[in-house]
Formats: sequence, structure tokens, C-alpha cells
Amino acid sequence: MLPHELPVSPGEWPRSAGSLTLSLPDPEGVDAVLRWRNDPEVTEWLIQTRINPESLKKEWLSSLTNPLQHVVIAWLGDEVVASGSLWIVDGMGQSHGDPEAYSNREADIDDLVDPRRRGRGFASQIAGVMLGLAFDEVHLRRVTAGCFADNHASRRVLEKSGMRLEQYGVRDSWHADHGWLDGCTYAMLAEEWASLNL
Ligand SMILES: CC(C)(COP(=O)(O)OP(=O)(O)OC[C@H]1O[C@@H](n2cnc3c(N)ncnc32)[C@H](O)[C@@H]1OP(=O)(O)O)[C@@H](O)C(=O)NCCC(=O)NCCS
Repeated sequence: MLPHELPVSPGEWPRSAGSLTLSLPDPEGVDAVLRWRNDPEVTEWLIQTRINPESLKKEWLSSLTNPLQHVVIAWLGDEVVASGSLWIVDGMGQSHGDPEAYSNREADIDDLVDPRRRGRGFASQIAGVMLGLAFDEVHLRRVTAGCFADNHASRRVLEKSGMRLEQYGVRDSWHADHGWLDGCTYAMLAEEWASLNL
């Protein structure tokens, strides 16, 4: 599938996920995420640690017209408590043959939760919505999520969402404070999503 054939902001928004309302990014919602996005408690286990607020705002607002990136902002009433992101990428493999087989057929996902609002199932709710978006609406074939092996909360969220631990890398992931650490990749195929949702 070529980029111009992918849907931009598929489906109806906002939508509910448990107690959350998930919306597409707008300036108010992105500004609210930016109030906690660079907190050390959030960045501790991220690959992209401190970000430039203006760059993130521009990127997330641009996702509204970018079929390769989908961002959702999670509201609990009038408070922004979390976000979810999905990036569409090519599948790994040989680059000749039918490009529709591998081009833009996979995605990576991640979640960010306000440190004051952790442990209430918000990331798990968002992960479920992002998987549904990827498989039911964008019709991708595989979704992955990577994390440091020591990011236990993230691993638990991915396990609860039904993703498989597909790769455990021994000291394959660089951490600026802790050096070379173990890393994990979790994955789910479209057929696995379908069998979970029969
Ligand atoms: C990872 C993160 C998104 C989880 O958000 P959350 O809303 O607290 O997640 P949930 O409440 O849905 O689930 C968290 C699960 O992890 C478990 N958990 C939390 N800390 C844990 C720890 N140190 N060890 C083991 N399990 C832990 C919780 O008990 C819960 O599992 P349970 O429902 O079986 O009890 C959040 O901590 C965060 O934003 N971290 C910083 C950014 C980040 O690392 N994002 C992931 C990018 S790879």
C-alpha cells in the first residue's frame, strides 16, 4: 500500500476508552501533554528523552494530515492524562517484488502517561485503541513496540494488550545514565488481533 492510499485520521473522533475520551491532537491538548512530557519520570525509559516542545507540537498537529502518523490525546474530563502514538513503517525484507506487500504495512506504537495518573489502566486502554486503529481501520499486518527491559510498567501494558515478547536483546539498547541495557520488542500480527477479538 502506498502512502497516498492510507487513510488520514481514520474513523470518528473523539471516541471513548474506559473513562477516557480520546481525541485527535489540537493545540490545547498538545500544550497540556507538554506540561509533563519532559519530566524525568516520563523520560527515564524513553529513547527520545527530552524533546523540543515546539517541534513536538508541530509534529503532532501535522499528524492530522500525515497518513503515516496517528496521535491521540487522552482526556479524563477536562484534564489531559496521556497520549498514544502510532507510526507506520515498511516491513523488513527484500525491497524488490510487489511493494504493496511490504510498503507501509506495519506500525510502532507507544504511550505516555502523566506520572501523577499512572497505575489506573490508562496506557492499557490507549494501547487497545491503537491496536484497533492499526488493524481494523488502517488494515496493517503487524504492530510492534520496543522498550528497555527494565521498563516493567511498559512491558506489562504490552503483555496485557496481547502482544508477544518477540525479541529480547541482551545489552542491545543504549541508556545515557545506565549504559548498555537489555531491550525488548513486543509484536502482534493482524491474525493474532483477529483471534483475540473473535
Ligand atoms: C509505561 C506507562 C505508559 C504505563 O502507564 P499506566 O497508565 O500506568 O499503565 P497501566 O495502568 O495501564 O498498566 C501498568 C501496569 O504495569 C504494572 N507496573 C507498574 N510498575 C511496575 C513495575 N515497576 N514492575 C512491574 N509492574 C509494574 C502495573 O501494576 C500495571 O499492571 P496490572 O494492571 O497488571 O496491575 C507509564 O508508566 C509511562 O508513561 N511511562 C513513561 C513513558 C514510557 O516509558 N512509555 C513507554 C514507552 S516504551
